[in-house]
This record gives sequence, C-alpha cells and structure tokens, in this order.
Amino acid sequence: MESAFGLSLSGPLEGGDRSPSASPGYAWAEMVQELLPEHIRRNREQWDRWAADYVAEGERSWASEPTWGIWWVPEADLNVLPDVRGLDSIELGCGTAYVSAWLTRRGARCTGIDNSQEQLKTARRLQDEHGLHFTLMHGSAERVPLPDASFDFAISEYGASIWCDPYVWIPEAARLLRPGGRLVFPVNSAFFMAFAPDDDVAVTTTLVRPYFGMHRFEWPSEEDNSVEFHLPHGEMVRLLRSCWFEIENLVEIQAPPDATTRYPGVPAEWAQKWPSEEVWVVRKKE
Ligand SMILES: C[S@@+](CC[C@H](N)C(=O)[O-])C[C@H]1O[C@@H](n2cnc3c(N)ncnc32)[C@H](O)[C@@H]1O
Repeated sequence: MESAFGLSLSGPLEGGDRSPSASPGYAWAEMVQELLPEHIRRNREQWDRWAADYVAEGERSWASEPTWGIWWVPEADLNVLPDVRGLDSIELGCGTAYVSAWLTRRGARCTGIDNSQEQLKTARRLQDEHGLHFTLMHGSAERVPLPDASFDFAISEYGASIWCDPYVWIPEAARLLRPGGRLVFPVNSAFFMAFAPDDDVAVTTTLVRPYFGMHRFEWPSEEDNSVEFHLPHGEMVRLLRSCWFEIENLVEIQAPPDATTRYPGVPAEWAQKWPSEEVWVVRKKE
C-alpha cells in the first residue's frame, strides 16, 4: 500500500505483494516524492545507492547480540536500552532493521520506518531468513503517518538521528510517544563533528569547523550527495526539553582498548581519547 509522503507499508499491517509497482498508488507516490523536502529526496536517492554496501553489516547485526556504534560496544556495557518487554516500539530510519530485530527478540512489538526501499529490501529478506517479522514502512521519519501516542519506545541508530532535521524529527518522535515513553538515539558526537574534516580523511586534533551554529552538513563529493544533521549539546538539550523530554543519560562512547577501526575517518586511537559517538536517552514527561 502506498500513501502520501511516498510511504508504503508491509508486514503485519499489510500482506500481499510488496513490490512498489504492484501498488495502484505508485504513480501518486512518485508524484508526492517530488514534494518531499530536498534533504529527504537526496538522502533517499543516496541510500538507495548505498544499500548494497550495508548488506553484510545488516546480516552480521541481525545474527548478533545488541552492540552500539562503529566500535560494536555491547549493550551489556552501555545499558542504554530499557526493558522493552510488551512495549510498542518504533525505529526511525531502521535501515536493515537489526535494531528492531534485537528489540523483537527482547519482547517488543516493533515497527520500523525507513526512507530507502533498497534498505528495506534487505530488511525484509533478513526477516524471512530469521523467521522474525514486524511491521516495516517506507517513508520519512520526519512525518510518520501514524496516530499520536502510538508507541512506548522510539529508537534511531544513525537513522533519523543524523539524516533528518532534528527540529522536525525530534518533535515528531515526541508526538508518536505516549507519556513516559523513551527515545534512545546513537549519533556521531557533537565534539567529533567539530573535528571531522570535509573529505574522507582521518580526523585529527585540529578543530575544522565552528561548534556554535552546527546544524546541516553536506559532504562535497561526486559519490556523496547526502545531507546530515548534528547539533551542539546546548542546542540539543534545549530542543529536547522544548519537546517535553527529560534527559536521562548521555553516554559518550569510548573505543575499547583492542578496537580497530572500520572507518578510516575515525582512527581507534583518536576515539580512545575523545568521544566519536554518543547515545542520548530521553523520556517524555508524564
Ligand atoms: C546508517 S543507516 C542506519 C539504520 C540502521 N541502524 C542500519 O544500520 O541499517 C541510515 C538509514 O537512515 C535512513 N534514512 C535516511 N533519511 C531518512 C528519513 N528521512 N526517514 C527515515 N529513514 C531515513 C536511510 O535510508 C538508511 O537506511
């Protein structure tokens, strides 16, 4: 089923043929896609192109216990997940949906939304291979066509949390959550972003961009037309509080002593001294 905002559903909410062309609403959805915000359209095209590179990581993570970020730090060490048994959970920018797979195994009723049909293809194949099915939706996490207060838990691991405008997706997450519901989101640390060079070279100890005013990032390159978003801590705190969230934790991830990098831009030695990633844990006030 396709609907406005280029959105389609599959899984428990809908059965049948999952191919976009099988849907009578497809032409309409294509037309609506033209109306998507520019960064959502660019990120959709980019992630459809990148999806093949993320298959192996999806397969590994579906088969693993929960770990976070590029250093694969075990959840047992970070403790950012609440007890999700019996909770309605939404993953905002689920990609290959391994986080929702972990949460489903822990007893949550999961929904995942992602902007890329190609990423969702991998997610659906892995659902079938693992015999673990939950709702998957194609659409933007900046505007989720589900009622207010539908979920007890929301999570975004490098999904909406970096590819959506925080001034749009965080209020949207707050809308989707019930009072008392938690939102957990791992991202690149704001500290790291002030050091991150424009091109794909390793971060150094030189500050390369202003911290104040940090918001929208583009990486000028022929292969990368994506748009990312990162906020300084003070801005993030004010935004979260304005959306009725109280901050329970901010976990700055340190690369473990034996870590080796998978991303040349982030050497392990750097991330053992300074935080390359951080996880926000916030709760909507009752
Ligand atoms: C690095 S992946 C993270 C997802 C998941 N943790 C994974 O690794 O498969 C980033 C995902 O965010 C998705 N994304 C980007 N913009 C989005 C948006 N506006 N709404 C929903 N998902 C979005 C991309 O399509 C991509 O699948």
